[in-house]
Amino acid sequence: MTQEWTHIPVLAEQTAQLLLTRTDGVYVDGTLGLGGHTAYFLARLGPQARIFGFDKDEEALAMARERVNDPRLTAVHASYTQTAHVLQEAGVDGADGALFDLGLSSYQLDNPARGFSLLRDGPLDMRFDLSSPLTAAQIVNEWGLADLERILTDFGEERNAHAIAMAIMAARRQGRIETTFDLKKVVESVVRGRGKIHPATQTFQALRIAVNDELGCVRTVLEVLQNIIKPGGRAGIITFHSLEDRLVKNRFKDLAAGGGWRLMTKHVVAPAYDEVRRNPRARSAKLRVIERV
Ligand SMILES: C[S@@+](CC[C@H](N)C(=O)[O-])C[C@H]1O[C@@H](n2cnc3c(N)ncnc32)[C@H](O)[C@@H]1O
Repeated sequence: MTQEWTHIPVLAEQTAQLLLTRTDGVYVDGTLGLGGHTAYFLARLGPQARIFGFDKDEEALAMARERVNDPRLTAVHASYTQTAHVLQEAGVDGADGALFDLGLSSYQLDNPARGFSLLRDGPLDMRFDLSSPLTAAQIVNEWGLADLERILTDFGEERNAHAIAMAIMAARRQGRIETTFDLKKVVESVVRGRGKIHPATQTFQALRIAVNDELGCVRTVLEVLQNIIKPGGRAGIITFHSLEDRLVKNRFKDLAAGGGWRLMTKHVVAPAYDEVRRNPRARSAKLRVIERV
């Protein structure tokens, strides 16, 4: 039996209300995933609307195309950092709204073959884009101590970065660290968990961010929003951890202070208790929206 993957879109109604200002507008879904937000948006848009959906993950794109199955969607295998270029090539002079729902989908997390989850044994991969060269296994087995420690600190905010990096260096002298469970065991050998949080959680987050240059992509897209969004259009970003949210919050504040942009979310939008109960993965989501005036 083939597995039916799911991903419940987070803050879907709030996002639709804040971003869909024109029924027949042009929209960007920078992180199409399984098409959850896009399907939700298309159900609320008119026949002339268009959505350009981006994803680095071709498996997700194929599923999104099949699930959404709507001629108003153009699904593109590219990083969302290429949005302005793709719109220009399509002869579109900017978007009325753009959503970036950061991080990874439930499909990627739950699929052991993708190597994202410490609860499932699989190859240490963690690439969103399976055609990109760098895997988590390469980082863990080939990078030096200082670089390992740096990513654990900068991308995992891991207090035990030095001890974990040392343990990785020691373990790989015995043989390659190939799987998620191999790495989990290495971390467990030097760090104890806090409450319900597994001791390797921050290590896995750090590797995922490094493999996919996640913060670099967020910084890039924040710098070029004026090339993506039309005057009157809006950009919304959903983040799942403080490293991303800090980048978005500060950049939106600077844009608004510089004139030409207006913050639509004075206070960050977070899911209600009911949504978190239905979809625990929504618990750390934060939505911020800005409008180009
Ligand atoms: C949280 S999921 C999006 C889920 C989607 N909103 C839905 O409702 O089905 C994030 C998706 O963004 C993709 N992604 C992450 N960084 C990306 C980037 N720089 N460019 C394009 N896609 C990216 C991931 O591959 C993943 O499929």
